[in-house]
Amino acid sequence: MATIKRIGVLTGGGDCPGLNPAIRAVVIRARDYGYEVLGIQEGWAGLVKGDARPIDVDDVREIISVGGTVLGTSRTNPYKNEEDKKKAIENVSKLGLDALVAIGGDDTLGVANKLSKEGVPCVGVPKTMDNDVSGTDYCIGFDTAVSVAIDALERLKDTARSHRRIMVLEVMGREAGWVALMTGMAGGADWIMLPEFETDLDEMCRHLVNLRSKGRLFGTVVVSEAVRVAGTREEDQAAEVDAFGHTRLGLRGVGAAVADIIKERTGISTRSAAIGHIQRGGTPVLRDRYLPTRLGLAAVDMVKAGKFGMMPAVVGEDIKPVALEVAVGKTKTVPVELWEMAKSLFK
Ligand code: F6P
Repeated sequence: MATIKRIGVLTGGGDCPGLNPAIRAVVIRARDYGYEVLGIQEGWAGLVKGDARPIDVDDVREIISVGGTVLGTSRTNPYKNEEDKKKAIENVSKLGLDALVAIGGDDTLGVANKLSKEGVPCVGVPKTMDNDVSGTDYCIGFDTAVSVAIDALERLKDTARSHRRIMVLEVMGREAGWVALMTGMAGGADWIMLPEFETDLDEMCRHLVNLRSKGRLFGTVVVSEAVRVAGTREEDQAAEVDAFGHTRLGLRGVGAAVADIIKERTGISTRSAAIGHIQRGGTPVLRDRYLPTRLGLAAVDMVKAGKFGMMPAVVGEDIKPVALEVAVGKTKTVPVELWEMAKSLFK
């Protein structure tokens, strides 16, 4: 096994609370093994440009409670063109990197997987508020995002209660409904709409009307940004596509479209709110400090052990190595059993 002297660490894709605790842990564990660490700036963009700066324990002492990422991030995809890919691989040698720790979601981990196959020793760390990376129960950023969304739901309930209204909360999550599911279940929403399962709009509206006859004069609905209903602005979201082919789902305005449908079908005053990037900001909650710390430490342990093309994953209470191929092979979506459980709460 090649001797490791210097490693690079980067964060790619959407920012979220928990990235800094992971960076901190990577840097701290690297000190244990005598590795120098270079912080690659703004995700894969930094590797393509060769933009990296030394980062040491003194630089990370106070970042555990800070949201976002001190390294910066981007949605750059070096595999979008041959030239960028070549530069990225060349810069690994130019920067003297013996291994890379890439913290990110399926896009970032997908690049790490491809680079590993081309001989660049990479270890991934699963991060995304969408929580949709396969092979891990948890992704960095998810718990804080849901905590923020639950807080938003509770605030909306106050208005709903006061005005005898229905309030619709739109949350992020791309094609996976984890944020909506857990926000709705833990926040006591009256209905949840997920991209994985079609909503019977008549059934939902009947339920919201029935609540009134039971004396509950308001209601809340949580909707995930990718849910398909009539009245969304599909042209707006399709106008901007990132380097990995993702459109901006938030521009569809699904929350507002759902509110219009409810108002039209029930006659009840309905409003919507989309909390967007608010879910990705702020200080990390417990699990977005504790687990990223364990994942960051484990990632450098895996570098030392030569376990490349892999990531540490949260499996139950344990951290276990999982192949990046498994992580990026398939989006982890909400299973039908959990959806049935959530639906059973709509009473
Ligand atoms: O993947 C994380 C995520 O927050 C998605 O839930 C959302 O659709 C997307 O990023 C938004 O991306 P951006 O910050 O580029 O607008």
